Amino acid sequence: MTHPPTAPLTEVDRWRELARRSHALIAEHQQPGGAYPAAPTFSAYRGYAWLRDGAFTAEGMSRYGDLGSAGSFHDWVSGVLAGRRDQVDSLVARVGAGQEVAQSELLPTRFTFDGADGSDPWWDFQTDGYGTWLWSVVTHADRHGLDLERWRAGIEVAVDYACLTWSWPCYDWWEEHVEHRHLSTLGALHAGLAAVADAGVLDDARTAAARAAAASVRDLALREGVSGGRPGHLVKWIGSDAVDGSLAACVVPFGLVPVGSPVADATLDAVRADLAVGGGVHRFRADVFYGGGQWLLLTCLLGWNEAVAGDRASALARLRWVADHATPAAGELPEQVPDHLLHPEHHAEWVDRWGTVATPLLWSHGMYLILADELGLLPDTESR
Ligand code: BGC
Repeated sequence: MTHPPTAPLTEVDRWRELARRSHALIAEHQQPGGAYPAAPTFSAYRGYAWLRDGAFTAEGMSRYGDLGSAGSFHDWVSGVLAGRRDQVDSLVARVGAGQEVAQSELLPTRFTFDGADGSDPWWDFQTDGYGTWLWSVVTHADRHGLDLERWRAGIEVAVDYACLTWSWPCYDWWEEHVEHRHLSTLGALHAGLAAVADAGVLDDARTAAARAAAASVRDLALREGVSGGRPGHLVKWIGSDAVDGSLAACVVPFGLVPVGSPVADATLDAVRADLAVGGGVHRFRADVFYGGGQWLLLTCLLGWNEAVAGDRASALARLRWVADHATPAAGELPEQVPDHLLHPEHHAEWVDRWGTVATPLLWSHGMYLILADELGLLPDTESR
C-alpha cells in the first residue's frame, strides 16, 4: 500500500462527513415499519428489502449508535418471520415425513415492505440472509445490552428454518448457482446459529438444535470447502477452487475460521490476489453483471478484515477508495463502479436491461459505517 497510515485532517473530516451522510441516507429511506429498501430508486430492487443487505445495514446503524433504526429493522424482520410460523412448521413436518417440498414453498430472499413475497419473479431460496440476520440481531443486542426476548418469535422461526435447510444447495450472495453449496452461505448460517445458541434466548431443545447445526455447518465447510493448496483457502462453493469476495466474511465477521488462522489468511490472500485491483474488490472472476465492476461493500468487507487483523494502513486505503467513489453532489454510494471491468463487453446489456447501477445502495452505506467504526472514524457522538 502506498498510502500513509495516517491521513491529513481534511480527509478525515471528509470521511466523517460521509459517515454522517450514510447514516442520514439509511434513516431517510427506512420504511415506517422498519424495512430497509435495498436501493430505493433502482428498477429491479425498488419496493423490496433483503435480509442479507438489511442485516449488514442494521449492523452499521447499530455501530453508529442509532438504536431506534436498528431496533426497528429487527422488529420488522421478527414480525415478518413470526408471520411465517405456520409455513415453517409445515415445511419441517413435511420434510420430517420424507416428503419433497418445491422451491416455491420455501421462504423468500427478499420481502415487500409489508412482509409479503411480492409478485415479481426472483432467484428465491437463499439461506444466508436468515443466518446473517440472526448474527446481526444477537450482535446488536450484545453491543447495547438489550433483551433478545423482544425478537424471540422471529428468531425461533429463523432458527427452525436454518436448522431445516442449512445443508441444502441454494442461491449464493449474488443470487446465482442454486445447484451448489456456497461457503459464504455456510459462514452466515454458522455465525447466526452459533451466536443465537449462546445468547440464552432459546429453549433447551432449540439451543441444542442450533448448536448441533452450527457444528455440522463448520464440519462440512472445513472438510469440503477448503482448496487443495498449502495452506488451502475457503472456496466459492463445495467442489470448486475459485474464490469470491464474499468469502472474507467467513473470517470477519462470521468467524467460520478464526482470525489469523492459516485458512483465514490464505482466504484473504486469495481474495486480494484474485479480486482486488487498485484498492477495490470484485465479486468473482467470471462476474458479468454490469461488466463485472468493483463492489464498494466488498471493499469495506476486506478492509474490515484488514482492520481486525491489525493492518490499519490497508484498511484505511480501502476506506479511502470507497469514499472516493461517493457521488460528488449527493454523497451516495453505488453498488459497484466501472473503473476496472472484468468483462466490459457485458456492461451495456445490463444498463439496457435495468438502467444505471443501483445508487444509492443502502448495503454499501451500511458497510461504510462498519469500516469507519472499526477504524475509529465515526464522528464524535455529540456531533452525530
Ligand atoms: C446482489 C445481492 C443483493 C441484491 C440487493 C443483487 O444484485 O447480487 O447480493 O442482495 O442485489 O442489493
